[in-house]
Amino acid sequence: MWRQAVIYQIYPWTFYEDPKRKPQRGIGSLKGITQKLPYLREELGVDAIWLSPFYKSPMKDCGYDISSYVDIHPDLGDMDDFDKLIEKAHDLGLKIMIDFVANHTSDQHEWFQKSRKRQDGFDDWYIWHPGKKDEHGNRIPPNNWASVFSMPNKKARERGEFAELRPDEWTPPISAWQWDEERGEYYLHSFAKEQPDLNWSNPVVRQAMKDVMRFWLDKGVDGFRVDAINWMGKNMSLEDEQVNTAYSEEYYGNPYDQLLKANSCNYMNALHQYIWEMCEVLREEQYENRDLRMILEAHMGESELRELNAIAPDVSSTFNFGAMKLKWSAPERRLQLDYYYENLDARNIGNQVNGNHDETRLASRLGDEVARTAAVMNFFLPGMKFIYNGEELGLHNADVPLEKMRDHENGFRDGERTPMIWDDRQENAGFSSADADQLWLPINTNDLGNSLARQENDPKSSFSLYRAAIKLAKEIEAFRSGAYRSVPTNNIDVFAFERKSGDDEALVLVNFSPNMQYVSVAAKFSQGKSVLSSVDVTLNPQEVNLTEGLHLQPNEAMVVLPV
Ligand code: GLC
Repeated sequence: MWRQAVIYQIYPWTFYEDPKRKPQRGIGSLKGITQKLPYLREELGVDAIWLSPFYKSPMKDCGYDISSYVDIHPDLGDMDDFDKLIEKAHDLGLKIMIDFVANHTSDQHEWFQKSRKRQDGFDDWYIWHPGKKDEHGNRIPPNNWASVFSMPNKKARERGEFAELRPDEWTPPISAWQWDEERGEYYLHSFAKEQPDLNWSNPVVRQAMKDVMRFWLDKGVDGFRVDAINWMGKNMSLEDEQVNTAYSEEYYGNPYDQLLKANSCNYMNALHQYIWEMCEVLREEQYENRDLRMILEAHMGESELRELNAIAPDVSSTFNFGAMKLKWSAPERRLQLDYYYENLDARNIGNQVNGNHDETRLASRLGDEVARTAAVMNFFLPGMKFIYNGEELGLHNADVPLEKMRDHENGFRDGERTPMIWDDRQENAGFSSADADQLWLPINTNDLGNSLARQENDPKSSFSLYRAAIKLAKEIEAFRSGAYRSVPTNNIDVFAFERKSGDDEALVLVNFSPNMQYVSVAAKFSQGKSVLSSVDVTLNPQEVNLTEGLHLQPNEAMVVLPV
């Protein structure tokens, strides 16, 4: 089922509040999600959902700081709601993936509380260290490892702190080590200080985490999106990181990136073993015939990703972020995709992704027209397709005022996390009927014109395009099972690829330029008909001659079948 699955990411806090909840809280709810499943399945046509964290959490990192892996956050509902959600999803033929935040817990998790007190054998569940002494005899952290969330230092410097630094000196990152008075030692936190890293080198921790996986698998979930996996692979000899000599503050932005990452994360030997062990859970006898799958959030080079993808191709793969992070250019996209598909084990399943809760929304990143182009291109490439909620409506990032901020570091990811725009004629765009100032994040009023209610019956809307593309990709055998091959064109701005399975063939042309382009293509077939265009879903199929050449509209992605 996963091979061509369209997977829809739901950010539970801002998706939909069950209208029957009294009083309304201005927060999404599990019951609300359950009510929207028919929309996702029957109208949009998705095959699976991925739920961002809905667990008990003090919300220092919007739910990615979990204080109990097996409890539901009371603002979102309870376990009974979750059970019903799974039941409804399965009735509709939808699979469910949940977020597995394996690298760290909240500092409020019972395990950490016990670990800091050295209680009940929890001493080594986290990564503790007494620190070392500097030349003046002062206590300092054991090494130079830094926290990913080091942006506040940059902001502090802008405010005039770090006055001792010369203008050409780099702003130091925030240490990944936090002194804990209670235990009298430092603990490691790759992210916020309220997110201590679990000690995966301790087999007892691994056992406990695999039990968490079993807990949810036994409830019926079909897979996991594993969070922040690079950081799970650490060199436990705690060697310093080398300085990234290519770093420049303007280019990288985050002081964290002035260190290379070979020890504090991306330490492959350890990481491979942990991934393997997680995959083994999915393969356990009791889960036979369940068709389970894991997708790993890994930010690394293409060759390291290739290694991770080869570990257990039958059950696990990494997100293909490479394409999303490239600048919008036909030759670069072609190179990335060629490398990606060529190096993907045939037993594995590739994927395409255009956004998530950490990235500026697609339409804000690339513009409204190009967002449509990028979506169509992705739907016809092989493998799983991820949609971040609201992307199908072409929603944009909101400017969230600082007093409404939810994310730490000045709300740096709040803009892509504001509520879904269901119906602009209803209060709060149909998301919740709580008072507007009570909403978890405000409605992006600039997007009211993009509500689902307005788009549903508009054949030219972004929603109609997504629906049509998802449907077509499922109908055509070449797109269901065909291999990918990029095809030469005579135009540097046009990227073309074909999909071929036996006698079934299809071609996709993508104009990466904002101008009309003329292109001829060395495809296997010469006479074709265009069956879908990102520019206008209502266009009638047209005969095209690929060898002689054809015109593509500005930013047009076109799907061509042989005649
Ligand atoms: C992942 C999540 C992000 C979170 C971080 C720490 O990157 O996607 O939202 O802040 O991990 O858990």
